[in-house]
Amino acid sequence: MRIDLREAERLLNAGTVVAVPTETVYGLAARLGDAKAVALIFSLKGRPQDNPLIVHVTDETQLFPLVARFPSGFKELKGLWPGPLTLILPANPDAVPDAVRAGLPTVAVRVPRHPLVRELIARVGPLVAPSANLSGRPSATSPPHVEADFGAEFPVLDGGESAAGVESSIVALHDDGWEILRTGAIAAEELELAMGVPPLPGAISDKPRAPGQKYRHYAPRACLTVFQSREGLGAAASVSGPVAVLGFDDTPHGNLPLISLGGRGDFVENLKRLYGALRSLDEQGRENALVDLDFPCLGLGVTLADRLRKAANRVCVKGG
Ligand code: TXA
Ligand code: MG
Repeated sequence: MRIDLREAERLLNAGTVVAVPTETVYGLAARLGDAKAVALIFSLKGRPQDNPLIVHVTDETQLFPLVARFPSGFKELKGLWPGPLTLILPANPDAVPDAVRAGLPTVAVRVPRHPLVRELIARVGPLVAPSANLSGRPSATSPPHVEADFGAEFPVLDGGESAAGVESSIVALHDDGWEILRTGAIAAEELELAMGVPPLPGAISDKPRAPGQKYRHYAPRACLTVFQSREGLGAAASVSGPVAVLGFDDTPHGNLPLISLGGRGDFVENLKRLYGALRSLDEQGRENALVDLDFPCLGLGVTLADRLRKAANRVCVKGG
C-alpha cells in the first residue's frame, strides 16, 4: 500500500515498520529507539539476530551522539555523504541499542541522499533500516518489489525506482587504516581516491567481514549458472525448457529469452536493473538461468560480479 510522507511519519511514531525509499534500495524502517519495532524488522524479514542494522541519519548533528569516537579517515570519507556509503564506527552503546548492533561494539551509519527519506528522518529522528526484502532474496528497488515480499497491504513510502539499484558500499574505519566490508554503489577506486591511501592489505577477501555477508543473499528461486565467457554461454543456450539468459544486449542467447541488464560494461545501468531482473526470473517461472559474467572486474563491475556470484552460489561456474 503506497503511503505519503505524513502517513509514514504517523505510522513510525505509532510503532509500525514502514518501507522507505533510498537512493540505493528500499529499506524496512523503524525508529532507532523503538525496541518493539526493531524486533519486528527481524521477524518480518526472517533475519538472523546476529546480523546488525544500519542507522540512517540526516547530518552530523544526528550522528555525533551515536558514535563513541571518530577514527582518522572519517573526515576524508564524510565528503561522500549524503550518498551510498555506510561507515562502521565505534558505537556509543548508550545511544545505539544492543539489538541494532547485534551486540557488536561498532555501529553502521549512513546519510542517505533520497529527499523523501531525508525529510522523514528530519521529522522522526534516526531510522534503522535493512534492505526491504525477505532475508536471502533479491533486494527491493521499487514499491512493487516490497509488496511482492511483504504483501499488498504493507505500507510503502513511494519514492519511485531506486536511483542506484544496489546497496551502499560498507567501509570500516580503524585507527591503522580502512577496509571495504561490502562492495556497493561506490567503486573501490573512488573510495581510495577519497582516502588517499589504499585499503589495509587483505581487506577484500572471501571471508565474510560484515556479519550479513556469511548468509545467502540476493537469490531468486531459479538456479543460476554463471559463465565467464559469452561464447561458453552461447554454446550452452541450445537447451529448451523454463530457462532464461540473464545478460547484456549483445549476449548470445540461442532460442532462450534474454533478460538484459543493458549494455555490456554499462555498470551503472546494469546495477540499476539487476534486482528487477533477478526478481523477473521468478515472476516468469524460470527454473534455471544462464548468467553472463564476461565483463571486466573494474569499478562498479566488481559490485555487479559480487552480486551475480552471490545470487548464483548454489551452482558451478562454467567456461573458465
Ligand atoms: O544501501 C543500503 O545499505 C541499504 C539501504 C536500505 O540503506 N541497507 C542495507 O542493509 O543494505 P542490510 O541490512 O541489507 O545490509 C547491512 C549490512 C549487513 O551485511 C550487516 O551485517 C552489515 O551491514 N553491518 C551492520 N552493522 C554492522 C557492523 N557494526 N559491523 C559490520 N557490519 C555491519
Ligand atoms: Mg540486505
